[in-house]
Amino acid sequence: MKDIRPITDPERPKVYIETYGCQMNVNDSEVILSILQDAGYALTENMDEASVILANTCSIRDNAEQRIWGRIDQFRLQKRRRKGVVIGITGCMAERLKDALLDGHSVDIVAGPDSYRHLPELIRNVTPDNPQIDVLLSHEETYADISPVRMDKNGVSAYISIMRGCNNVCSYCVVPYTRGTERSRDPQSILREAEELFENGYKEVNLLGQNVDSYLWKDPVSADKDVNFAQLIEMVAKVSPELRVRFSTSHPKDISDEVIYTMAMYRNICRHIHLPVQSGSNVMLEKMRRRYTREWYLERVAKIRSVMPDCGLSTDIIAGFCGETEQDHKDTLSLMEEAGFDAAFMFQYSERPGTLAALKYPDDIPPAVKTARLNEIIALQNRLSLKSNEKEIGRRHTVLIEGTSKRNSEEFVGRTSNNKVCVFPAPGHKAGDYIEVEVCGCTSATLISKPV
Ligand code: SAH
Ligand code: SF4
Ligand code: F3S
Repeated sequence: MKDIRPITDPERPKVYIETYGCQMNVNDSEVILSILQDAGYALTENMDEASVILANTCSIRDNAEQRIWGRIDQFRLQKRRRKGVVIGITGCMAERLKDALLDGHSVDIVAGPDSYRHLPELIRNVTPDNPQIDVLLSHEETYADISPVRMDKNGVSAYISIMRGCNNVCSYCVVPYTRGTERSRDPQSILREAEELFENGYKEVNLLGQNVDSYLWKDPVSADKDVNFAQLIEMVAKVSPELRVRFSTSHPKDISDEVIYTMAMYRNICRHIHLPVQSGSNVMLEKMRRRYTREWYLERVAKIRSVMPDCGLSTDIIAGFCGETEQDHKDTLSLMEEAGFDAAFMFQYSERPGTLAALKYPDDIPPAVKTARLNEIIALQNRLSLKSNEKEIGRRHTVLIEGTSKRNSEEFVGRTSNNKVCVFPAPGHKAGDYIEVEVCGCTSATLISKPV
């Protein structure tokens, strides 16, 4: 069996990796570690002993980048203290800013999301006067043959990237520029990875893509063997009924009835869909280039609920997009109520250079208005989350234990199939066990429960 956990070998030179951004970037760090372990490195969590320091970065909003700039300054201090330390910037900021990252920042390596196979060579070639940059995007790279080295702490739940890039070009979004065009990964390699994880004791896989519903593997020999997303989740669900399958992100314009029915057929495909709506106003959705309407979105929600009444539903929302009126904002609030989201990630619009919105529409909502609208959205979601959790009181759930609670070491935390976080006492159990619980109380974030 191949070792999928980090190698601990005191003799090896050490690499320190800090990760920002989405789940896909977290999984990319695991790909990077796999490549660097094969080149003789070992992971360290202590920056002071690392000979290579990497920041795997995110560009999605300006505040994400600002935080990372602060960290790059910290890394520079390491270089001043210890000769020969190599500093590398990988991920979306590397791709967006390219050689601008080299100017006056003491960075040695800039490597974009499709260049990770070259990292060992880039590290070898670095000299103080010779920084290395590789930001070429690819139409083919999916790292399909690389087994990510798992950096999660619990050994229960793991990410599997099933595709890379994005072809949607939503007008506000930088991802198509930083991650390139969409490409799907060979389903057999995905299946092998899921099986390998299960053999290593993992109980949950989370299939990742910017738009999983457009996953399509074109078989090189026979079109009969093409695999779409519904077929892929079915293949992975069949690895074992003991292996839970989750996925994100679903796109409202693309999520198909076939996917919804396939979910309903398998108890181990979790009853949760992350379906980012972004706005409840058709005017905003049009300007965002989301290519669905409020009505279309609510029809998809109704379909999901009619097939799987117990399905959890979460979303992403952007407050204060270009030209957003008070009425547009109210439309978002009313859509939230109508859809009755169980959870949401909520953001203020942040203009990203080079995107269609930056070119076409002035970023004209004053910061104070953006903040006020976002706060209203957050307050409403807290009420909706509480309401959704209160409905669970008295119900029973099968929970996959992820570990002990941070607040109380006597209690465990785990998730229900519909993606709600549960805390409960469970003497004699351990991370990776399934347990039946009954919900006896809640907050807006957590279900308080007891074993049955
Ligand atoms: N592929 C996913 C989203 C990836 S980015 C999808 O299409 O849903 C995650 C979230 O960040 C987005 O859903 C959006 O809500 C938010 N986001 C993206 N660009 C943003 C920007 N420029 N300003 C604010 N939020 C943004
Ligand atoms: Fe960005 Fe839209 Fe692609 Fe999501 S679907 S990554 S929001 S361009
Ligand atoms: Fe950020 Fe890149 Fe992910 S911009 S959200 S790390 S795809």
